[in-house]
Amino acid sequence: MSPERFLHFSRTEAALIHHGDSFMPQASTRILLAALLISATAAHSQAPVQTNTTLLVNIDHRPATSLNGDWHVIVDQYATGLYDFHQNLRKDGFFMNAPFDPSGHPQDYNFANASTLRVPGDWNTQRPELLYYEGPIWYQRDFEHTAKSNTRTFLHFGAANYRTFVWVNTKKVCEHEGGFTPFDCEITGILKNGKNFVVLSVDNTRLADGVPTLQTDWWNYGGLTRDVSLVDVSTQFIDDYDLHLSRTDHSLIEGYVHVEGAPSGTTVTVSVPELNAKTQAIVDTNSRAAVSLPTKSLSLWSPENPKLYKVEITTAGPTADKTEDEIGFRTIETRGTQILLNGQPVFLRGISIHAEAPYRTGRAYSQKDVETLLGWAKELGCNYVRLAHYPHDERMTRTADRLGLVVWSEIPDYWALQFDNPAVLAKSKQQLTEMIRRDRNKASIILWSVANETPNTEARTKYLTTMVDLTHQLDPTRLVTAALLVRTEKNPAGGTTKIVDDPLGQALDVIGTNEYIGWYEQHAEGADTTTWDIRYQKPLIMSEWGGDAKAGNHAPAGDAHPALWTEEYQAEIYHHQIAMLNKIPQLRGTSPWLLMDFRSARRVNPGLQDNFNRKGLISDQGVKKRAFFILQKAYKEKSLGKPE
Ligand code: GCU
Repeated sequence: MSPERFLHFSRTEAALIHHGDSFMPQASTRILLAALLISATAAHSQAPVQTNTTLLVNIDHRPATSLNGDWHVIVDQYATGLYDFHQNLRKDGFFMNAPFDPSGHPQDYNFANASTLRVPGDWNTQRPELLYYEGPIWYQRDFEHTAKSNTRTFLHFGAANYRTFVWVNTKKVCEHEGGFTPFDCEITGILKNGKNFVVLSVDNTRLADGVPTLQTDWWNYGGLTRDVSLVDVSTQFIDDYDLHLSRTDHSLIEGYVHVEGAPSGTTVTVSVPELNAKTQAIVDTNSRAAVSLPTKSLSLWSPENPKLYKVEITTAGPTADKTEDEIGFRTIETRGTQILLNGQPVFLRGISIHAEAPYRTGRAYSQKDVETLLGWAKELGCNYVRLAHYPHDERMTRTADRLGLVVWSEIPDYWALQFDNPAVLAKSKQQLTEMIRRDRNKASIILWSVANETPNTEARTKYLTTMVDLTHQLDPTRLVTAALLVRTEKNPAGGTTKIVDDPLGQALDVIGTNEYIGWYEQHAEGADTTTWDIRYQKPLIMSEWGGDAKAGNHAPAGDAHPALWTEEYQAEIYHHQIAMLNKIPQLRGTSPWLLMDFRSARRVNPGLQDNFNRKGLISDQGVKKRAFFILQKAYKEKSLGKPE
């Protein structure tokens, strides 16, 4: 194809494109295509495009029509679904889902005959040829709908990586950016009685101004990675609520209920039948009702007692709404260097986890994936898990509620974002808001993390301090943290000193620090001569440490100096780390890196990594490595860490 075709682009972009002799669009070209995709979709939309999609909470407790299953797909590297050969926006793009007539006008696509992909599920592990694919893929499926009076209908997405553009019955209804948080698109006015269809494009192109940005140490699994459903709600519906235990009175449940579309004066009833507790509250002019519900003999949620109560929320009036949830009630706060759960000092015996599916690999989402991962964490003796580096499927936090595991939940403000770019800050804020909105009533979540291993620059500190403040505003009942990098200096004793003085620590409630003594720095024994100089009188969580080992790769028996990549060397690291951690007075938790090996495009050492980060204590095929038992012993004996 001659370069002239690309006249729409600047000279450099055209030149960039041309470099690719395989004409495989370079990353920058895909970014360009993606940007064009946005403008095109905007140009093509009839209905107002919803970017700030609403977000209904507690979806998994609402009656809904699942749209999971096989969807027709079209892999569209060149965004042909939107552009003609002169880069003009097409009116007859793939979103029209035009029926193919072999004798009619030539048509380059036909969803009806197109192959399918399973939803939910990343596309990378469903077809070998899509393992490395980054770009747009179109999804299409039909669905039936029967209109009901006084009802609004939403398309709900548990998550889709990375940017999603949605059409229903050829009308553009919404778009969303962010691969790990839920969003809803209202389609009430567009639906027909009977057969309808949805066509959407999901584009996992990595963006420099994305959240996360271009570099991540996890696989960029693309697609409709979580549940998709149709949800009918009454015209006045409960779209958000916060019910938590008062920090000052452990028998008082307080919070609010927001009823979208409800006029002030509408009555909301909140009840906990098991406790015989019920209260009524009145909606104000912001459609929000403040709730205060005294209870008797409420059993506090904790890892030892993961007690959940059925809670019923109903609204009165012509279009009443009702939703039920299972909520645990507990308080979390700090006091000096202690973390207090229900007022008692606690030590967090944890492990970090990526949402990589055990055995089948790919983005984890199913109850089976969740039960396996959290089951292993329980087997390890954990009372805490760090869900890295993005919000995991809601099944994960629901199950943590039930199993009694406290959770560190994080948004992917990961490594070097464009911290001086206000548009990027807006994306982080959106993902933070969506994360908190979905999981604000999960007792298991005690820590919101706003970042991981970000560079210590002024722009970064300003950006993340803003994020910490927003987190406190959105949820004053939980603690805010981040995983910080630490400085290293030689100390007079000939060892090293780790200095925790990242300025972001000032804003945090709990300090998270990552270190890799024995792997990226020093040898495992280096931990024996490492001291910690922590410049904050706050609780510290060692949020990451560890080393790679290929399961089954063993050092010779009795080898006093096992080689790197062996299970024995990984166990060495754990030995020395546990001893070092016990010398840090304000250590209040730890989550070594990590539970299970996971796929990463940065890990390409053949025979050892093969596109997997091997720092798991368990291989992706469920093989427990030596270090698993080292940590399990320390956790079961409670010989690692002190709550006070
Ligand atoms: C970092 C990072 C992880 C990464 C790990 C590693 O600390 O936070 O995302 O996977 O190091 O290098 O294995």
